[in-house]
Amino acid sequence: MQNDIEKILISKEELENITKKLGEQISLDFKGKTPVFIGLLKGCNPFLTDLLKNVTIPCEVDYMKVSSYLGTESSGNITIVNDITTNIKGRNVIIVDDIVDTGRTTSLIKNLFEQRDAQSVTICCMLDKPEGRVVDVDVKYIGSTIPNLFVVGYGLDYNELYRNLPYIGVLKNEIYK
Ligand code: IMP
Ligand code: MG
Repeated sequence: MQNDIEKILISKEELENITKKLGEQISLDFKGKTPVFIGLLKGCNPFLTDLLKNVTIPCEVDYMKVSSYLGTESSGNITIVNDITTNIKGRNVIIVDDIVDTGRTTSLIKNLFEQRDAQSVTICCMLDKPEGRVVDVDVKYIGSTIPNLFVVGYGLDYNELYRNLPYIGVLKNEIYK
């Protein structure tokens, strides 16, 4: 375990089980369709990568870069830094993100994709922090529900660090500045 980590919340093995289950479920639910997975960068990686290894139906993948966070606080202002290049009109879109906290990011992107005439827009996230919710958003696929804690690892960062950890953990108090 890395020195800055207070405790591990979700282990590497648990993450493997979670992505396997989610990938299998999505493959069943979207059987006969060719969904487009749209990962929200940078946090969706490595969750999306592991999820895709367990998806057994034909699918496409694209990425969108959005930014909203500064330190441990959501700024509330969501900017699209890089848009997708896929034409999603009439497509079944699955938005993939690391965590749904206030719900602002995923609900904004869902509305945007609906305006672009996607046939369906489904949300899949590794973590759900329901206590942080400000905007009501329907998250169909959830890896794990966690309490209102700031977590890092497996794509999640604190000031751009810790995304590379193979587990999800909580930082030691002294790390926050
Ligand atoms: P929302 O718009 O508040 O739902 O925020 C979603 C985004 O905030 C996620 O994609 C993360 O980038 C970031 N975020 C929310 N909670 C955490 C956390 O505990 N650790 C790291 N990033 C977080
Ligand atoms: Mg993010």
